[in-house]
Amino acid sequence: MKILITGSNGQLGSEFRSLENKYRDYQFTFTDIEELDLTDFKAVHLFLKENKFDYCVNCAGYTAVDKAEDEPDKAFLLNAIAVENLAKECAVNKIRLIHISTDYVFDGNSTRPYREDDPLSPESVYGFSKLKGEEAVLKYSSNAIIIRTAWLCSRYGKNFVKTILNLGSEKNELSVVDDQIGSPTFTHDLAFAILQITSSLKNRNTNEIYHYSSEGIISWFIFAKAIIEIAGLTCEIKPVNTNEYPTKAKRPVYSVLDKGKIENDFGLEIQDWKSSLSKLIQDLKKL
Ligand SMILES: NC(=O)c1ccc[n+]([C@@H]2O[C@H](COP(=O)([O-])OP(=O)(O)OC[C@H]3O[C@@H](n4cnc5c(N)ncnc54)[C@H](OP(=O)(O)O)[C@@H]3O)[C@@H](O)[C@H]2O)c1
Repeated sequence: MKILITGSNGQLGSEFRSLENKYRDYQFTFTDIEELDLTDFKAVHLFLKENKFDYCVNCAGYTAVDKAEDEPDKAFLLNAIAVENLAKECAVNKIRLIHISTDYVFDGNSTRPYREDDPLSPESVYGFSKLKGEEAVLKYSSNAIIIRTAWLCSRYGKNFVKTILNLGSEKNELSVVDDQIGSPTFTHDLAFAILQITSSLKNRNTNEIYHYSSEGIISWFIFAKAIIEIAGLTCEIKPVNTNEYPTKAKRPVYSVLDKGKIENDFGLEIQDWKSSLSKLIQDLKKL
């Protein structure tokens, strides 16, 4: 199985790099902007023509949610236009595309976990650019998988767990929003799930959307408290409302994803957020 991982220096992409040695049946090719700039359409055309792949897992993305409000062109270029090009090139070269999307395609007004076919109504430039990327994949692919995920955390790059660990060891008190509800996703679990999916997809010839996050429904405040407790820090975490912590981009107040479809279709056992968080904090301590 030959797999191309694009955006492989990011949080999710780096996780695939770390799993490489455990998957001897897979031949991985890792690229990031230096080796394959997805906005360079000629380079993408040549790369996919000259190299044979069974899968492309697109982990590249414009992920600076607040900055995207000020530079929508950059967000749309990578999250939508480059994805359209990638989907077309994958189709021509018979590569199955696994594309990563986001809970931010929803408006957050639901009162139950979002299902894959729920109405889409992003409220931020980032969310809208990711929605356009999804639409392009569905239009130009015939056997792609779109995985919507949320609140990514990992050993790599910048994320909430690392930020709280850093601030929590410097400060006595931190305020964290308690009125945005969702579920974290640990890239180790997600990368593992994606590799499990690739081994069971063979004869499927339809586009499918799936939701994936850890098990459990929490606020950022509850998440921060758990990070501090598990790490053995003493910093006090105080709950605040979103209006006391304004951000440029509007976040969905509720973005819990229903994972029933991915569990049923692939027999995946989804990890509880707290056990994955404990493992991540152990791993970070070893660094
Ligand atoms: N982070 C989250 O909480 C979250 C939540 C839901 C969904 N997602 C989605 O999950 C996916 C992975 O997220 P992530 O957090 O792993 O992202 P990330 O850490 O920001 O990684 C994205 C990678 O793409 C690279 N990249 C930027 N421009 C590129 C280009 N033109 N060509 C090729 N690569 C390029 C980035 O390089 P530079 O760093 O040099 O720009 C970076 O290495 C994204 O599609 C994101 O939208 C993320």
